[in-house]
Amino acid sequence: DRLLMVEQILSEFRLNKEDLKEIKNRMQCEMNRGLRVETHEEASVKMLPTYVCSTPEGSEVGDFLALDLGGTNFRVMLVKVGEDEDCTWKIETKNQMYSIPEDAMTGTAEMLFDYIAECMSDFLDKHHIKHKKLPLGFTFSFPVRHEDLDKGILLNWTKGFKASGAEGNNVVGLLRDAIKRRGDFEMDVVAMVNDTVATMISCYYEDRSCEVGMIVGTGCNACYMEEMRTVELVEGEEGRMCVNTEWGAFGDNGELEEFRLEYDRVVDESSINPGQQLYEKLISGKYMGELVRLVLIKLVNEDLLFNGEASELLKTRGSFETRYVSQVESDSGDRKQIYNILSSLGVLPSELDCDIVRLVCETVSTRSAHVCGAGLAGVINLMQERRNQDCLKITVGVDGSVYKLHPFFRDRFHKMVRDLTPHCEITFLQSEEGSGRGAALISAVACKMAACIR
Ligand code: BG6
Ligand code: GLC
Repeated sequence: DRLLMVEQILSEFRLNKEDLKEIKNRMQCEMNRGLRVETHEEASVKMLPTYVCSTPEGSEVGDFLALDLGGTNFRVMLVKVGEDEDCTWKIETKNQMYSIPEDAMTGTAEMLFDYIAECMSDFLDKHHIKHKKLPLGFTFSFPVRHEDLDKGILLNWTKGFKASGAEGNNVVGLLRDAIKRRGDFEMDVVAMVNDTVATMISCYYEDRSCEVGMIVGTGCNACYMEEMRTVELVEGEEGRMCVNTEWGAFGDNGELEEFRLEYDRVVDESSINPGQQLYEKLISGKYMGELVRLVLIKLVNEDLLFNGEASELLKTRGSFETRYVSQVESDSGDRKQIYNILSSLGVLPSELDCDIVRLVCETVSTRSAHVCGAGLAGVINLMQERRNQDCLKITVGVDGSVYKLHPFFRDRFHKMVRDLTPHCEITFLQSEEGSGRGAALISAVACKMAACIR
């Protein structure tokens, strides 16, 4: 009966098919509002044009540098783009990870970009290529309003970044200035892309039906190829342009109110950006562990867990990391893994405690997968309507730690997307090193186009 009472508390998290259809429909509706000039400003889903267009044939070959900022890790990569006999792409990469110190994330924009330039300089030294002026593709995983492929202002930070003096400014300009300030190397920044876009592009070279990119990691977002005529913010009618939905902000106008729970409100209120990215906060890795922790505390307070007593550590915000959710659900059944995690958090669980913790993790991560699936179903449904196809065949390129590392997220997510898009044939393609390759490939195409214009 303890389990029954726990179930009762957890039942709020279980969204039924009708709820999820509703979320899908509202998502689709907000996406359409974001695309239209007259509703764009007020829409929560910003639908940002990326200036990445359909089927530009051919590109430069050679070495490209790629930067990847905004996921768990900051990375610098060297990417070789080339062609073999079948004209397919051949890519080799060298890459290095750097961690971003907290004060660079939350200090000034100069501090952040100086640090980035410092890492680049270190990378170039290590690979003895400092003398070369390489073309650079910059994967920058935040909402950017582009004016062109290599120009766009940061609308707002998300995911815990807060460097002052960046919002409202041209991000490529900030990077170029930092490189100039150092003065020890030169770089030709040719493209800036969102991580969803880089992921889509990198998968596109494997599968030409890949016209959607999605990330479920620290943050959550998707992009897709939209008909130019409906991208009202950009002139032109022909072909398709990739649109960065920035769907993480869905719900910021109240579209998710009846689905948000007390835990979601606490997570939001104690975040660095309250009231923003409400859809993302239901789903992504930055928040999942904390949601679980808040539910555990609730159960303790109801005397349903750990004999009604939580450790100081468990009472501390952020102590239940999102990777623990994966680890708890990966437990083979002997509860060893769960026991170890909980004792590292200072509680000594009974067997039933372990089972309850597992149930909480399953419940929170399942809601995440389902809500995310509803969003993607909205995107795919919109594409199907646009293209007027009875059966839409589409491939979705995916990346991110939650998608890749959680043991069941992927299957629950795929199932929900397919349930909600009955007349579509969807392939999911996991991207490997997506952002580096994607950014480099877009840069290579951009270089070619620039060369043609010259
Ligand atoms: C990485 C991509 O693999 O996944 C990044 O290279 C992306 O561009 C990231 O931002 C997202 O996942 P996470 O879990 O690192 O936020
Ligand atoms: C956040 C960012 C978005 C990014 C996503 C995944 O939602 O706003 O730009 O794509 O995280 O990293």
